[in-house]
Amino acid sequence: MIDLRPRRHVRLSLSLLLAVAAAGLVAGCTNNSGSEQSSNLVKGKQLFVQKCGSCHILARAGSKGVTGPNLDAAFAAARQENWGDDGVRGVVYGQILYPNPNTAMPANLVTGKDAADVAAYVSTVASKPGKDVGLLASAVAPAGGGKPAIEKGGILSIAADPNGQLLYVETTAQATAGPLEVQMPNQSGVDHNIVIEGTPIKSPIIKKGVSKAKGTLKPGSFVYYCSVPGHRQAGMVGKLKVR
Ligand code: HEC
Repeated sequence: MIDLRPRRHVRLSLSLLLAVAAAGLVAGCTNNSGSEQSSNLVKGKQLFVQKCGSCHILARAGSKGVTGPNLDAAFAAARQENWGDDGVRGVVYGQILYPNPNTAMPANLVTGKDAADVAAYVSTVASKPGKDVGLLASAVAPAGGGKPAIEKGGILSIAADPNGQLLYVETTAQATAGPLEVQMPNQSGVDHNIVIEGTPIKSPIIKKGVSKAKGTLKPGSFVYYCSVPGHRQAGMVGKLKVR
């Protein structure tokens, strides 16, 4: 019996062989008939956004991380060569289990059925045009653009998206001039902080909990953002009015 989970370069060529063999027989088959259990794509998408999206762009998942490669670009060649979703899924699954240890990608961010669900979701959407529809479209609540955060009693609370997207829940905020404590609740498990540009306010980077910083603000318009590399560019930014 062949070990189906060897290192990635072996898995790649195996997938390629399977894809070439299947190409002439099956066209446009996107189901999961090859797996023992059917995959939960909704769960796979939620886990992808939470555990992977902070490092990878994947258009259909709306993720914007730039630490790792853009996954739509990564699988473009595979799509052109008519790999089926199963071939792509095998590569993603192998990468989750055996990432190159010399890179920023930790192994086993998701395990067991969760890893299979993430791989199934990525293989279903990577490098494919269009948008997620149906249950997949609503799998992850949109973040940002909520109600403004309003300072109360010298405390201004601006939360990081709890689902792991590189966004704040509140993208606008209001405060009165004077001493201010900014609090950033972060339930996501992804590193974040909050910096108010042009002021000394810069909170520590944390994965979970509430990150806090104090300072004194003058009236004016300010920008706040997350200083973890890539997060501001991805959209983790907002506007603060101090009166
Ligand atoms: C901390 C950042 C980080 C996280 C989180 C992360 N990755 Fe990665 N990923 C990387 C980096 C860096 C690479 C490039 C590794 C290399 O060059 O071998 C990579 C490579 C990949 C590749 C191969 C792409 C290619 O071009 O060959 C895939 C597929 C992938 N990741 C999927 C995932 C999935 C799925 C998750 C979530 C379970 C995930 N990654 C989480 C950083 C990350």
